[in-house]
Amino acid sequence: MLLRIDESSAAGIVLSSPQYESIFNFGDSLSDTGNFLLSGALAFPVIGQLPYGETFFQHATGRCSDGRLIIDFIAEAFSLPYAPPYLAVKQDQGQSFQHGVNFAFAGATALDAEFFFERNISILWTNNSLNVQLNWFRKLKSDICSDEDCDFFKKSLFLVGEIGGNDYNYAFFLGGGIKQLRSMVPFVVGAIINATSALIEEGAVELMVPGNFPIGCSAVYLTLFESSNKEDYDRHGCLKAFNAFARYHNSQLKQALDLLRQTYPHARIIYADYYGAAMRFVHAPLHHGFYGGTLKACCGGGGPYNFNNSARCGHAGSEACQNPSIYSNWDGIHLTEAAYRHVALALINGSSSAPPLISSPL
Ligand SMILES: *[C@@H]1O[C@H](CO)[C@@H](O)[C@H](O)[C@H]1NC(C)=O
Ligand SMILES: *[C@@H]1O[C@H](CO)[C@@H](O)[C@H](O)[C@H]1NC(C)=O
Ligand SMILES: *[C@@H]1O[C@H](CO)[C@@H](O)[C@H](O)[C@H]1NC(C)=O
Ligand SMILES: *[C@@H]1O[C@H](CO)[C@@H](O)[C@H](O)[C@H]1NC(C)=O
Repeated sequence: MLLRIDESSAAGIVLSSPQYESIFNFGDSLSDTGNFLLSGALAFPVIGQLPYGETFFQHATGRCSDGRLIIDFIAEAFSLPYAPPYLAVKQDQGQSFQHGVNFAFAGATALDAEFFFERNISILWTNNSLNVQLNWFRKLKSDICSDEDCDFFKKSLFLVGEIGGNDYNYAFFLGGGIKQLRSMVPFVVGAIINATSALIEEGAVELMVPGNFPIGCSAVYLTLFESSNKEDYDRHGCLKAFNAFARYHNSQLKQALDLLRQTYPHARIIYADYYGAAMRFVHAPLHHGFYGGTLKACCGGGGPYNFNNSARCGHAGSEACQNPSIYSNWDGIHLTEAAYRHVALALINGSSSAPPLISSPL
């Protein structure tokens, strides 16, 4: 397959013979293109205003970034329209599902809300977990497919995540310890695997399942879990224990995906290494154009990582940097369009996807 890298276009990646005709996406704020905002965004209203969206769309779209997300760059690479949010399709806002639908919801968890309520974790932004999103998909399926095994899905890419990051975020932010949280990992991985196999049972054959980002390099973790012990940091300034936790989740997920490949040999199940893709720019920020660094947020209310929980991006007392493209971290939690572009490129050029997202990568 021919790949044209056009450095002058913002996306820079367009495949000359796209292999997918539609994209169905499940996940959280890393890939939500508007569902949470359409639902009212009560837990996070600033998502509906600038500076969110300032770089590419010039207005807020509900994306938790200054511009496009990984899923948008993947859509561009396959010459597809940006996947419309499910709620816009459902409310019949002139959005078609012909090229796929995005069910991702900011704040969503892999596990159902009950799991958290039972453990007194009551700070969920939303109850629209992976299972809820899967049920939305099932409702829509009858409109999309006339036949039982749905030929349409054979040329569709299914993205199952990133999801699961919030399951840990909520627990960590409420004071959960790393040891305690390791016991959650099999449940979170189980939920992701269950959803992935459910999609295969519904007719999906091409699926990509991302792991977690290196949370120990994220401004929110660096701020909340700041330590006076230098030993807690790696040579890039990231919190070692939290990165090890993300790697633990990822290794469990990868093992479970291996088993799933044995169960469904006809499906192509791709693991997306978000961790490795992000570490590439943490290790070599200048090489990736991140002259502002990779640990400090572009938009925030001050502090060593420009993350201040009482003046978060979009709130009074916060400010966005002049040039988000030289930062990888956008608001302390989410990444910039520039960073998402690098992650998408690494998935497409095959260096962070296994097997590679495109059948014959560079
Ligand atoms: C949750 O909180 C309630 C009320 O404070 C308490 O009775 C219960 O034991 C707690 N459950 C857990 C699992 O911590
Ligand atoms: C989630 O569900 C619980 C229990 O049904 C409800 O009390 C809560 O308001 C819901 N949360 C959100 C964000 O919708
Ligand atoms: C996954 O599915 C299995 C089999 O249906 C079920 O026993 C398990 O509870 C599910 N796990 C999660 C986390 O939903
Ligand atoms: C793939 O893209 C990433 C992100 O821009 C880059 O770091 C990496 O060097 C690229 N790898 C190849 C093999 O082109």
